[in-house]
Amino acid sequence: MSQYNAWFAAQDDPAERYPLTEVVYYSRSGGLLEVQHDMEALRQQSAAEWKQLFESRWMRTTWPYGSGVWGKKEWICPGIANENIVSTFEGGSNLYWAERFGREIGLEDLWIKMCGVSHTGSFKDLGMTVLVSVVKQMISEGKPIRAVACASTGDTSAALAAYGAAAGIPTIVFLPKGKVSTAQLVQPIAHGATVISMDGDFDACMRVVREVTADPNSGIYLANSLNSLRVEGQKTVGIEIVQQFDWDVPDWIVIPGGNLGNTFALGKGLLMMYELGLISRLPRIVCAQAENANPLYRAYKNGWSFEPITARPTAASAIQIGDPVSINRAISMLKRFDGIVEQASEQELADAAARADRTGAYACPHTGVALAATIKLIDQGVINKTDRVVVVSTAHGLKFSRFKVDYHESTLREVVSHYANPPLELPPDADAVRRVLERSIERPGASRD
Ligand SMILES: Cc1ncc(COP(=O)(O)O)c(C=O)c1O
Repeated sequence: MSQYNAWFAAQDDPAERYPLTEVVYYSRSGGLLEVQHDMEALRQQSAAEWKQLFESRWMRTTWPYGSGVWGKKEWICPGIANENIVSTFEGGSNLYWAERFGREIGLEDLWIKMCGVSHTGSFKDLGMTVLVSVVKQMISEGKPIRAVACASTGDTSAALAAYGAAAGIPTIVFLPKGKVSTAQLVQPIAHGATVISMDGDFDACMRVVREVTADPNSGIYLANSLNSLRVEGQKTVGIEIVQQFDWDVPDWIVIPGGNLGNTFALGKGLLMMYELGLISRLPRIVCAQAENANPLYRAYKNGWSFEPITARPTAASAIQIGDPVSINRAISMLKRFDGIVEQASEQELADAAARADRTGAYACPHTGVALAATIKLIDQGVINKTDRVVVVSTAHGLKFSRFKVDYHESTLREVVSHYANPPLELPPDADAVRRVLERSIERPGASRD
């Protein structure tokens, strides 16, 4: 038995507790449950000892601690048996120094945390490893779980399907028809999930999956981020960023937000480090939203008073959400971090992604939202040019090839492609090629003038 312990607790009454292996999503008053840790037990090790332990496990092969998530097992889900852990070596993603792009936008110290460089191509792996591992533990203890289900804008379903397949646990995913990329759609199909393509938006899928899983006797376990097990894994992103800077805290962390579980998770991990003495200050957090799906931005501008909206189509399709599940806890977390919410139009997000790509990144549209928000905050003088800024890249650009193709073919909705670079179509004639190359090497893009 581990000397550490964690449990679900109701937000309005911390005495209302449930084991992490119980099928329960809401408190008696209907609020979300949070995972709480026995902080007294964790305080028995000093900050220096925790750092040393985490460093000794970082990216090594001793199962399961080489995973960026399970290397911090005592802080995440201490009670789980190692043989029930379902891991793909998630976490430990590259913290990329965006030197050229930073210089272009006026920042000396810009970094991109590449969470999309992961097994299923997004940060969702960080949370799904925890949730599916707990499900495996529950099944091993005899709980009657027949399948795990989620609503998704594309990345959660890919992660759930992969981890479920790795564990041999059936999965069911609800996707809004025509609103996820081809790569995202094919991932759960390939992993053998039951894929339900629904006529409706993400918010509609969310309503249906909540109803389907509401009866504890259904045997279908809910995997959306309102299930706080996911948050426990996702909270490692902030911890990793600090660890990768040799335990130094950046000035700003900018993160794209949709359902807002990740914004909350980022803050939760950083607060845990702060409470256990591993860091002595907190960064400021910026949540970046697409202007077409900006309920949090509207709330921020309106004294944090929230109204759900119907989100409009955005190239950042994974954050096309009008009624975020984690709205209240994300707002409290942002207040704790002196947080800011900024938005990006389709034009701004597409150009920011294209500019980053031209300096060697390969930004998904959601990362484009966060990069565009960063540019706006520099231009407004809110972020100082000497500040250390980390942008969280939430998915791999390769999952969004249609977005890239449409941009470079100048067919993206609501966007003029200022940085389009379509291929040059030329006959197989060396002279013709030489003539064009003379112009394009001097001035890339000029050959099309
Ligand atoms: C690529 C990508 N970026 C950002 C987000 C937003 O995360 P959250 O919904 O937790 O705010 C998601 C989640 O759906 C996503 O898939």
